[in-house]
Amino acid sequence: MSCVLVTGGCGFIGSNFIRWLLEDDPEVRVVNFDKLTYAGNLENLASVAESDRYEFCPGDISDRERVDGVLKQFDIDAIVNFAAESHVDRSILDSTPFIQTNIVGTQVLIDAARAAGTNRFVQVSTDEVYGSLGATGAFTEETPLAPNSPYAASKTAADLLVRAAVHTHDFPGIVTRCSNNYGPYQFPEKLIPLFISNALDHQPLPVYGDGENVRDWIHVSDHCSGVAAVLREGVMGDVYNFGGRAEMSNIGLTRRLLELLDRPESLIRFVPDRPGHDQRYAIDCTHAEDELGWKPTVSFDEGLADTVEWYLQNANWVERVRSGAYREYYEQQYGERLGEG
Ligand code: NAD
Ligand code: TYD
Repeated sequence: MSCVLVTGGCGFIGSNFIRWLLEDDPEVRVVNFDKLTYAGNLENLASVAESDRYEFCPGDISDRERVDGVLKQFDIDAIVNFAAESHVDRSILDSTPFIQTNIVGTQVLIDAARAAGTNRFVQVSTDEVYGSLGATGAFTEETPLAPNSPYAASKTAADLLVRAAVHTHDFPGIVTRCSNNYGPYQFPEKLIPLFISNALDHQPLPVYGDGENVRDWIHVSDHCSGVAAVLREGVMGDVYNFGGRAEMSNIGLTRRLLELLDRPESLIRFVPDRPGHDQRYAIDCTHAEDELGWKPTVSFDEGLADTVEWYLQNANWVERVRSGAYREYYEQQYGERLGEG
């Protein structure tokens, strides 16, 4: 039975990945290593918590002793690193934890994995490392790295640390770069769950700038199948882009959400733009399709409707994750208190 260490497994994508992998592979064992920051929630894994193929270990990826201890305790074959500070707006307010977790933490994991002789290391990265596109074109794996936010810069640094370890030490590292994910269990600071939650509460939806920025949306289950394909068949040292081929402007998406939720467009509030806001992302995922036989399978229409339904059915989850600490962040970011629109 192979044993995979998943870092950041209590977050949005990590928790979806753990559930996906345990279901897909009856032979796999998963150790989830997570610091439980504001974005980490053990409740996301309640459905697998009792499985004898699942283990939770609290810890920080930048704590070498703790990482060494977990690698020693379990017979880990591969590491998938999802652990990160993941929100662009937070990185603009304070980049400190981004440097510590995304950069220092990734290097600590690489060093510990090398010392333990781990067979495979998948670094889960983002299309934001490529910067911003104009009206046409799409990012390929050859697009020059040109990150624009502190978050994107910290993820780029991590990608380059993996690249350097591969080059210098023959480290078995692989990098994946994915576009914007959506789906169940996403923390309601990101666009789609924030707007669903606010609309359900009859609160304004804060659209940055003119709302014409474009993102390429992928359902989280398609990202999970891509990461799993890389874990099983990816070539060491390679980079794989993943995207949903579902480009949408923020304002178009906002209108679609309001329609699905049967809420009026008067809830839309244009607010000052995000500093350095990337205009457009689009991913060319031909490499993953050709080399891994991977394809996105969830259409945006179907995935968005399912996601809205999930948030309708899980209002209590949203209520619980919108803790005191999150309320403070919301006030700092949007200049108003949550729930007092
Ligand atoms: P998230 O913010 O929902 O979850 C991050 C998880 O990492 C949390 O459980 C948190 O507790 C944990 N964590 C944070 N710092 C840690 C540390 N020092 N040690 C151990 N655990 C720590 O993030 P997400 O949206 O699930 O993203 C997961 C990964 O995928 C990130 O690396 C992100 O850069 C990447 N990614 C995200 C998207 C997206 O659209 N959300 C797109 C492409 C790539
Ligand atoms: P986000 O979910 O933060 O993802 P990312 O910045 O990684 O793409 O934002 C998606 C898009 O939505 C991005 O163009 C910024 C925009 N946005 C808003 O207009 N208002 C908001 O309140 C948020 C959080 C995002």
